[in-house]
Amino acid sequence: MVSRSELFRECQAALENAGIPDARFDTLCIFQDCLGDRNPLFSPLEAVPADAEAMINAMTERRISGEPLQYILGQWEFYGYPFRVGAGVLIPRPDTETLVDNVIRLCRANGITSPKIADLCAGSGCIAVTLKKELPLAEVSAVELSQEALPYLRQNAALNEAAVDIIEGDVLAETTAARLCGLDIVVSNPPYLTAEEMKELQTEVGREPSMALAGGDDGLDFYRALTPLWKGSLKSGGYICFEFGMGQHDEVGKILAENGFENIQFTRDLGGIVRTVTAVKR
Ligand SMILES: C[S@@+](CC[C@H](N)C(=O)[O-])C[C@H]1O[C@@H](n2cnc3c(N)ncnc32)[C@H](O)[C@@H]1O
Repeated sequence: MVSRSELFRECQAALENAGIPDARFDTLCIFQDCLGDRNPLFSPLEAVPADAEAMINAMTERRISGEPLQYILGQWEFYGYPFRVGAGVLIPRPDTETLVDNVIRLCRANGITSPKIADLCAGSGCIAVTLKKELPLAEVSAVELSQEALPYLRQNAALNEAAVDIIEGDVLAETTAARLCGLDIVVSNPPYLTAEEMKELQTEVGREPSMALAGGDDGLDFYRALTPLWKGSLKSGGYICFEFGMGQHDEVGKILAENGFENIQFTRDLGGIVRTVTAVKR
């Protein structure tokens, strides 16, 4: 039988040889998952049971093939909450925590204690579920169209015991917008990659659903469509909050201004990139 440290070295080396950037971290996550031990290397000489060894090797192979670590583990953390993920749903990104922070800040700063919120393009539900957890009196709806993503959204609302109203629908359709009215906040992290970016995806991102990524030729299709459409669902004085890609802030700001939104404010993410915008409907 192989010891933990021997197997760890083998797996880490295999990932490094395959060009996986953070091989040690990924190996540690795989070991934690398979051995159920927070720090598997505290007992380096302990023998790895045969079934755990087989699981570790299989997960390492999947990682070598370019599958994202998060899909292999089946769960990822966002804003301190667990989210189930897998093929067919976008992996929650830390950048999106900035968008969640924007909404929470707006509610607290404006004394909106029981906001009516719609999360458009909800995916795993990381935004909607987190907002419901952080603002328990909020009425949160989550709209998603993908048949692959919807089961994750439902599962994550249940996993986190978040009473989110899940709506299966097309955010670009007038009939969907008509189902929600009098909203205090529309929040969305829509697909925003350009056609050019879609051609040059990093291996792992290429495993995520293109429906979650592709935002048309210049990446702005959703902002152009959602802004006028969902303005009608916002109450006056309500806010629209978007995440967007690096360098898209000027164009997204222009779309909001052209649609009559005011007080357009941008926020940088933790990496210093201008990542989100909030604007008010007068
Ligand atoms: C960038 S992902 C965001 C997912 C999640 N909100 C997050 O921040 O991780 C965009 C999501 O929009 C969904 N989507 C794409 N087109 C849509 C449409 N027309 N109507 C509803 N959802 C759509 C995709 O399936 C995907 O889940």
